[in-house]
Amino acid sequence: MFSYRHAFHAGNHADVLKHTTLLAIAQYLVQKDTALSVIDTHAGAGLYRLDGDFANTSGEAQHGIVPIMAADPAKLAPALQSYVELVRSFNPGAQLRNYPGSPALLAGLLRPQDRLRLFELLPQDARSLQGNMAQLEVPCPVQVLMEDGFAGVKRFVPPPSRRGLLLCDPSYEMKSDYAKVAALMEDCLLRFATGCYAVWYPIIARQQAHDVPRRLKTLATKAGKGWLHATLTVKSSKLHTLPDGQVQRPGLPGSGMFIINPPFALRAALEPALPQMVQLLGQDKHAAFTLESAGG
Ligand SMILES: C[S@@+](CC[C@H](N)C(=O)[O-])C[C@H]1O[C@@H](n2cnc3c(N)ncnc32)[C@H](O)[C@@H]1O
Repeated sequence: MFSYRHAFHAGNHADVLKHTTLLAIAQYLVQKDTALSVIDTHAGAGLYRLDGDFANTSGEAQHGIVPIMAADPAKLAPALQSYVELVRSFNPGAQLRNYPGSPALLAGLLRPQDRLRLFELLPQDARSLQGNMAQLEVPCPVQVLMEDGFAGVKRFVPPPSRRGLLLCDPSYEMKSDYAKVAALMEDCLLRFATGCYAVWYPIIARQQAHDVPRRLKTLATKAGKGWLHATLTVKSSKLHTLPDGQVQRPGLPGSGMFIINPPFALRAALEPALPQMVQLLGQDKHAAFTLESAGG
C-alpha cells in the first residue's frame, strides 16, 4: 500500500525543524497543571535506530541531527539545547544511535494527568510503535490506534479538559493528503477552536505543497485565531543533470511548520534557533529560513 517509511528519514533536517518546534510548544503547554490531551495523527514507529539498515540507506541524519549534536551546546539557542538534551537522553553512550520520533519526544514531557493518542496506519510501524511506547514507561495513558489519523481524530476533539495539542505530520505520499490536512484543520477549528494545531508540510515543487500554508493562514484568519509559520530550506530545489545526461532529484530541499493557536512564547523560542539551523544544516547558498506570525 504505502512505500513511505519514516525510518529512512529519521533525524533529517525536516525532523530537526519539526521536533524542535514541537518540543518548544509541548514544553510550554505542560507548564499549566490542567490535563493536556495530545494527538499525533501520523505517528510513525516512535523511535528509530540511526545505525540500522533503513537509516544507513539514506544517511539523512548526517545532514540533520548529526551536525546539530556535534555543535557546541553552549552556543545553541535554548530551543535547540532542549532538543539536543532530549535526543541525548535516548543515547546513553557517546555515540548517536537512537533518534526519538514525535511520539517518544512527547512521551518524555507528558505528566500522569495527560493523555497521548497515536495514529499509525502502517501495520509494521504501528507494531513497532506499540513496542517502543511500552518500553518507554510513559507516565500518562498512551493509546496506539492502527487506523486513519485524518478520520480517527475527530472522536477525540474536543478533549474533556479543553486543553489539546494536535500534530498532523502526514507523509504526503498520497496527493490527497494535502486537501485532507486543510479539511481536518477546518473541522478541528469548528470542534475545538482553542486547540493548538501543528502541521508539517514539505517545501517541494508541487502546487498543493505551496498551497498548504496559504490555506491554513486563510482558515486561521477566518476563525480569528493566531498562527505561526516557520520554514527551513537547506538547499536548492533544482534538478541536477549529471554528465551522463541522467537527471538527479535533489531530495527534500526544505519544509515548514504551520501552527494555529501557537503558545505566545514560540516565536521568541524559534527566532534564534532558525538561523542556527540554517548555519548548521545549510548545504548551499539557497539555505534559508522564514518566520512569520499573526495574532488571534
Ligand atoms: C512523516 S511520518 C510520521 C513521523 C512522526 N510524526 C515523527 O515526527 O516522528 C508519517 C507516518 O504516517 C503514516 N501514515 C500514512 N497515512 C496515514 C494515515 N492516513 N493515518 C495514519 N498514519 C498514516 C505512515 O505510515 C508514516 O509512518
